[in-house]
Amino acid sequence: MEKVYIYKKFERFWHWSQAALIFFLALTGFEIHDSFQLLGFEIAVAYHRIASYLLLGLIGLSIFWHFTTGEWKQYIPTISKLKAQIQYYTIGMFRNDPHPTIKSARKKLNPLQAMVYLGFKLVMAPIVILSGLLYMYFKTYDANDIIIISDIPLEYIAWAHTIGAFLLLSFIVIHVYMTTTGHTLTTNIKAMLTGWEILDKEDKSTSNSEVEPTKEKEK
Ligand code: HEM
Repeated sequence: MEKVYIYKKFERFWHWSQAALIFFLALTGFEIHDSFQLLGFEIAVAYHRIASYLLLGLIGLSIFWHFTTGEWKQYIPTISKLKAQIQYYTIGMFRNDPHPTIKSARKKLNPLQAMVYLGFKLVMAPIVILSGLLYMYFKTYDANDIIIISDIPLEYIAWAHTIGAFLLLSFIVIHVYMTTTGHTLTTNIKAMLTGWEILDKEDKSTSNSEVEPTKEKEK
């Protein structure tokens, strides 16, 4: 076992602020949806709009960070050991079997996580963001007084946005559950808070790394 600096400062900032913004967007969004009353409709709409701009800014920053650091390679999907990983989550972990893949700074995500997180980035988040932007600019005036109107009925846009919101929320429920499946219930959450995690020594035969080594010094 060794103590490894696995999540860099930006990564932790991005992870927790994205989580907070999505929770806040869900809270204000479902108030707009009339699921409950908390802030009042007008305030919920205004806050939802501000939080969505913040989320867009954060996503922009994180895309820049992932491409400039090469960390985007962590999300390259692979079917190698995917079956073993699914068997581990459905049967193995309840029998205390060892993890089929070894986590390291070079390979933070197991094959199932890489696939699910890629789905989050390429499918779930775009559904919510694109429908949200269409919703926002459905009928609005730009600076030159030109009306921007979407051809898609508002009802369909609202449906797509709400379905996207439910998909995101189900992702979060599963994601939070999965974070408890590390060495102890809180190992993974502590690692995302501090950056450090105690990991098994990396062994080239068990880690299915396709990612270039990253510098493991604290940034
Ligand atoms: C960049 C991201 C997002 C944008 C641009 C956006 C935009 C919007 C807009 C414009 C509305 C209509 C209210 C209004 O007039 O302002 C809305 C409603 C809503 N949003 Fe978002 N939103 C985003 C992200 C999210 C997220 C992450 C969630 C939840 C996880 C969410 C959940 C909802 C819900 C449930 C509604 C109510 C839908 C309805 O019943 O009509 N939104 N959003």
